[in-house]
Parts: sequence; structure tokens; C-alpha cells
Amino acid sequence: MKEPIISVSNLVAKYGEDTVLDNVDVNIYPQEITVILGGSGCGKTTLVKNILRLYQPYSGSVKIFGEETTLMDEPDFEKILSQIGMLFQNGALLNSMDIFDNVSIPLEQHTNLSSDIIEKIIRVKLKLVNLERAKNLFPSELSGGMKKRAALARAIALDPKILICDEPSAGLDPITSAALDELILKLKNLLKMTIVIVTHELASIHRIADKIIFLDNGKVHFTGTLQEAKKTEIPEVKNFFKVGSFDN
Ligand SMILES: Nc1ncnc2c1ncn2[C@@H]1O[C@H](COP(=O)(O)OP(=O)(O)O)[C@@H](O)[C@H]1O
Ligand SMILES: [Mg+2]
Repeated sequence: MKEPIISVSNLVAKYGEDTVLDNVDVNIYPQEITVILGGSGCGKTTLVKNILRLYQPYSGSVKIFGEETTLMDEPDFEKILSQIGMLFQNGALLNSMDIFDNVSIPLEQHTNLSSDIIEKIIRVKLKLVNLERAKNLFPSELSGGMKKRAALARAIALDPKILICDEPSAGLDPITSAALDELILKLKNLLKMTIVIVTHELASIHRIADKIIFLDNGKVHFTGTLQEAKKTEIPEVKNFFKVGSFDN
């Protein structure tokens, strides 16, 4: 059994007095795609944000690359963060910059590479997401799927070991969503990335998931492989795989 690349234990997350995550344990294994599932408002984004310290965990442990991160000082945590790509649902591109400049942001911020090298890296990333010919377009000139791919190119600009995507296919049509899944599989298979995805799209889960983590009511209700998830008798999980939604 491989060691987890992210290991969350006894995590408690609160907003004021409201406990959103109540002693949550989550392990993310290298080079796998882990899907985080759960009804709207159950705390999926909160989990991701606590892992990334966008919110400070109330209590518990978050180990990334084997290191405890919850109490790490800012510069050390920055080093960890520089190896994690993030794609948020509203992780918008900057509208005042073209695609090329948007993808350049992390490279300008986190490296001392020359502009020649940066340009080459951006070209490679845009090619990977099939946007090399859109590099001088502005976000307002792109379709929803193209925007997502551009944001993905930016998220992987620094060759992160881990990519975390919060509802990447929200608002995309099924074909565009399927193309995004292909791309995500490519990142896993070609670049050996570890990928964490929050999504409700059943079709997408069938295409990409290695592991499933099911959150409900502040707790982890299920954790296992996609095959195990499809066979489980846990009612909420069973119901989700039957009807593809959380609506009762
Ligand atoms: N910044 C915040 N302040 C207060 N409550 C919040 C905040 N963000 C989320 N919540 C609440 O925490 C719960 C979990 O939210 P969230 O993690 O966004 O759920 P999910 O991503 O699963 O839809 C919800 O009840 C939501 O209203
Ligand atoms: Mg969310």
C-alpha cells in the first residue's frame, strides 16, 4: 500500500459556532484520481479550503507530502502550495489579460525563470490543453470549456504534483465536460499527477474516478474504490449511484 500524499485526520472545520466538518479522515493516494462527493452544502469546498489553509482548520491534522501543515509557518507552507495546482469553480481568469498572460501569472510569481523559458513553458501547457491558437484571446472571447482549459493550463503551469479541482465541470455541457475529463485523465496518465476532484457528475465519476470519498452531514460516510462505491449498501451512496443526484 502506498503512503498517502495528503492525509487528513480528525479534521474539524467550523464557521463561527457552526461545525461543518466533524472529525473527518481523508487519505489521498499518489497518482490516483480521488472524487469527493456529497450533497450541496455538505462541506466539500470547506474540506478543500482547509487542506489548502485558505481556512485554518479548527483542529486536527493535515499532512501533505508527509509533513504536518496546519501549524507550519507561512514560507514553508508556500513551498508546499507551489506544488499544488488549484482549479476553483469561480477561479476566474483575469479578464484584463489574454490567455498567455493569465497562464504566466504563477510562473512570474513563483519562479525566477527568464521570459524565454516562461514563454516555452506556457506554449507547452497551452498545447496540452489544446489552446495554443487561443493564446492572444481574452477570457471574454472564450467559450466556457475554453475558459476551464485555460484555467487548467494556469493551474498546472508549475508542474504541480497535486491538482485539486472544485466542481470543474459545473456549467459545462456534457460534451465539453467529457473533453475536460479526457484532459484530466491525460494529466494523471502522462504527467503522473495526483488529482482530487469535487464533482456530482455521475458520468464524469464513471470516467475518471479511482477512489470515492462520500461526505454527508459533516462526516465521511464512505471511502473506497469506484467499484466498491457502486456495490456498497450504504444508503446515501447507493442512492447516488442509482439516480445520479442527491435529490430524494
Ligand atoms: N465562508 C463561510 N462562512 C460561513 N459559512 C460558510 C462559509 N462557507 C461555507 N459555509 C457554510 O458551510 C457549509 C458547507 O459549505 P461548502 O463547504 O461550501 O459546501 P459544498 O462545497 O459541499 O457545497 C454550508 O452550510 C455553507 O453555507
Ligand atoms: Mg462547493
